[in-house]
Amino acid sequence: MTTSGSMHHTAREGNTRYFVIKCGGSVLKQLPEEFYHDIVNLKKNHNIHPVIVHGGGPEISEMLEMASIETKFTDGLRVTTDEMVDIVEMVLSGKINKLLVKKIYQAGGRAVGVSGVDGAMFTCEVPDRALGRVGNVTSVDRSLITELSESGYIPIVSPISMDKYGETLNINGDEAASAVAKALEAEICLVSDIPGIYELIDGKQIVYPLLDEEKITRLIDEGIIFGGMIPKVKGALAALSEQVRSVIIVDGREKQALRKAVEHGPIGTRIIRKELLDVTAN
Ligand SMILES: Nc1ncnc2c1ncn2[C@@H]1O[C@H](COP(=O)(O)OP(=O)(O)OP(=O)(O)O)[C@@H](O)[C@H]1O
Ligand SMILES: [Mg+2]
Repeated sequence: MTTSGSMHHTAREGNTRYFVIKCGGSVLKQLPEEFYHDIVNLKKNHNIHPVIVHGGGPEISEMLEMASIETKFTDGLRVTTDEMVDIVEMVLSGKINKLLVKKIYQAGGRAVGVSGVDGAMFTCEVPDRALGRVGNVTSVDRSLITELSESGYIPIVSPISMDKYGETLNINGDEAASAVAKALEAEICLVSDIPGIYELIDGKQIVYPLLDEEKITRLIDEGIIFGGMIPKVKGALAALSEQVRSVIIVDGREKQALRKAVEHGPIGTRIIRKELLDVTAN
């Protein structure tokens, strides 16, 4: 990292900022050690409180397969039946959440793993019964995250929640990250296994460096954005506000991915509000 002055977007002088990092299940096993060191470094030296939210798609699929349970996706969201919801929670809040706690420890930091269930952090609604036990986050109580952060811990959030009867709900990791970021008025970095949002032209991946809502809507209509990218862009657009001016999608395996994301360097795809796109284009 360079000086904190170059990170004015996330750290204002004397005023600690939150920065939400969503680690996709797709890329978790391939993230370099440097990635975790950078997270710890943000916390220790840059007046930034990193908050990690994770996914776990491939690992959940693997466990469901072992249990001979079939999975289906609708627009990138896993249809979550009663019979699979316990496995989803075990993998996300147990295995993957604790793996990240250990990674942060090995990188010299201290982390605490929680899910949306803990402290009743997430309030959810069930948007579509056809998706089964899938929740939409309607609000986030930020107090657990801010207290952990101010006590020196890096919170690691598993995208699991409960309904008002205490029954488990599965939340898409990108949606959870966006909801957490909104509550913290934080920028988000969505870390995945793709170089950004791209379009295939003559078999080559051409990455869009900058996108706004209008262009994203067009790319979804044209089928260029599909599957797991849909909850990413929807969550990103929902998180944008006066305070959250952009969301970035990066490949966590790229060198210095996180540093570039924090410093607004040239990497991945940045999703921004329309009026900002006009300014940037000039
Ligand atoms: N235009 C696009 N550009 C890049 N990726 C796209 C695009 N459209 C769809 N995708 C898909 O989105 C996928 C990333 O979402 P996915 O949900 O699979 O991963 P993740 O969110 O990182 O992991 P997890 O859901 O486990 O947290 C890519 O692997 C790619 O197949
Ligand atoms: Mg995903």
